[in-house]
Amino acid sequence: MTRTAATPAATARHGGTPFGVLPTGDTVHRFTLANGDVTMRVLDYGGIVQSLETPDRQGIRQDVVLGFDDLEGYLHRSPYFGALIGRYGNRIATGRFTLDGTTHTLAANNGPHALHGGLTGFDKVRWQVLDATDRSLVLRHVSRDGDEGYPGTLTATVTYTLTADNRWVIDYEATTDRATPVNLTQHTYWNLRGHGAEPVLQHELQLVADAFTPVDATLIPTGVLQPVAGTPFDFRTPQPIGARIDAAHEQLRHGSGYDHNFVLAGPGDAAGVRFAAQVREPATGRTLAMSTTEPGVQFYVGNFLDGRITGKGGAVYARHSGFCLEAQHFPDSPNQPAFPSTILRPGERRTSRTEYAFGVDTQQP
Ligand code: BGC
Repeated sequence: MTRTAATPAATARHGGTPFGVLPTGDTVHRFTLANGDVTMRVLDYGGIVQSLETPDRQGIRQDVVLGFDDLEGYLHRSPYFGALIGRYGNRIATGRFTLDGTTHTLAANNGPHALHGGLTGFDKVRWQVLDATDRSLVLRHVSRDGDEGYPGTLTATVTYTLTADNRWVIDYEATTDRATPVNLTQHTYWNLRGHGAEPVLQHELQLVADAFTPVDATLIPTGVLQPVAGTPFDFRTPQPIGARIDAAHEQLRHGSGYDHNFVLAGPGDAAGVRFAAQVREPATGRTLAMSTTEPGVQFYVGNFLDGRITGKGGAVYARHSGFCLEAQHFPDSPNQPAFPSTILRPGERRTSRTEYAFGVDTQQP
């Protein structure tokens, strides 16, 4: 008598390989996705993009994201390298907000403020793998009512897809059983010269933003939308990241460089996805374009890296050795009535999409 295989086809597609064991005893798996010219490796822990390889203009492939070779690095030393962020990306002032007349107190993990979802944010949990193929991965995390102080049980589903035309598409979906703020994002640190290479100050950035949200000295938005015109925050035409980073501007002092939310302008396509940013690395020709349905993007240049973190292959990550473009709603929105709302209510389904497109510019430096 022939016996049918115990594993249904859907399970067999989960081709992850063990990457380490959590203190809980659970095994973390790593999944390889490849399509077109791009190969990426993703952990079910934090949805972390552990590596991402693309060719340069000579066809030389390099890993362009900062990270660690082992789970231990992600557990103990990671400033959110490659990770999904939730329930709320960036800061909520003094870890407190009032919603429908009730004041909620969150876990404070950044001075008095709540940052990136709290002490155990979505970057520090093992996500359930709903599906995995050689070019896509579907992850789910259920965050319980009261998790890190947030109200309501929130179900977040994130799909990573690599397309044949070299785009990494991230689809987010969230539902809740009680009203709660939600701001999901992805915190990959990029260095298009290769993850261990020199700081990213020569990378040229274009950001389609007419305004940014200035912050106080603790990086909480003042509530104002400030035009970028005439400031070092004007990236409407491409500028090297480092060209004005040391300018005498109060906001650059507050952020120790760029660590600000930019207000995206420009029309979206039929699905509401709009072109937000483009980066070009002159020496290798690698380019990265970002599009999103989100109203803002946090541009952060690894200002708090200081050479104390040793990452993949022994690379030492010095100040500014990676940049992040985190598509998001604005920081501290639950306390800022003038900002687009982040509140998700029962019966609603929050969806958003962010895409990173990889290419090469054949023009020599
Ligand atoms: C924040 C920075 C923070 C960093 C953590 C960014 O999104 O804006 O202030 O230090 O994440 O790695």
